[in-house]
Amino acid sequence: MVRKAVIPAAGLGTRFLPVTKAQPKEMLPIIDTPTIQYVVQEAIDAGIEDILIISGKGKRAIEDHFDRSPELELLLNQKGKTEQFYEVSRLGEMANIHFIRQKELKGLGDAISYARQHTGDEPFVVMLGDTIIDSVIPVTQQLIDVYNQFCQSVIAVEEVAPEKVARYGIIAGKSIDERTYQLSGIVEKPKPAESPSNLAVAGRYILTPEVYSILDDLPPGVNNEIQLTDALQILLKRENIYAYRFEGRRHDIGNKLDYLKTTVEYALKRAEFAEPFMEFLKSVVAREKNYES
Ligand code: UTP
Repeated sequence: MVRKAVIPAAGLGTRFLPVTKAQPKEMLPIIDTPTIQYVVQEAIDAGIEDILIISGKGKRAIEDHFDRSPELELLLNQKGKTEQFYEVSRLGEMANIHFIRQKELKGLGDAISYARQHTGDEPFVVMLGDTIIDSVIPVTQQLIDVYNQFCQSVIAVEEVAPEKVARYGIIAGKSIDERTYQLSGIVEKPKPAESPSNLAVAGRYILTPEVYSILDDLPPGVNNEIQLTDALQILLKRENIYAYRFEGRRHDIGNKLDYLKTTVEYALKRAEFAEPFMEFLKSVVAREKNYES
């Protein structure tokens, strides 16, 4: 049974400088909610209540966000701001959230190895702290359903444009059903001409504990980082691994353009903003068109 989630959130976020110089990219808001809160909510919606966040230097704001804030709660209560009071006090009790600090930023594989004591002999979910996935059924739940079928590691994948494969981990595998694949290989950031497919690893994984023994001895790979992809390639020699082409839309908040697009999409989904914001967007487009002609 999958009961625990690990959220790596220690990275420097260099693609989003300068804002990430002194604040975690995982705290960048989509309207009024930090990115990592969507990730934690996805875990909870999938029935997971034990979450380990891999934190690091400059990431205190994440810990504070999920902590109780008695002064703020008292103030909101006294001022009769009931809705805000419940929102803020809920955050301190969302789930059983633990933190551990990654001492050196040696890559995603290294970050995950810090979870070993916490997850022990159990399979666990890895959810990237800078990736949110908009879906009807939480993607983590979709992966758990596949795990329950095979009791082996499962990776969320999505199709990407062939010219973009060099940005992602890419899988090779044989299709088992419409959405499920059995892996035969996985490679980090392949050149388009050498890519085994256009199915990209999408920021959610269920891993078996066997991965830890591999991460222990793994040398640095692409970008001189300990790559989870390399560990999975070795794991594949010992166990089956499955990939699941999830239903939903992935948003990578660590990338400025994706961040902007996500903010617009989420604003249009919010009842209080949908209409006036759409009007605003239309007026911006009309103005730009006028300039063009
Ligand atoms: P990224 O590679 O997108 O994060 O890792 P990064 O290194 O912060 O990004 P850039 O390239 O410099 O902009 C995906 C997730 O893994 C975490 C990150 O915090 C992010 O949520 N991560 C990455 C770690 O926890 N530790 C690491 O050593 C690397």
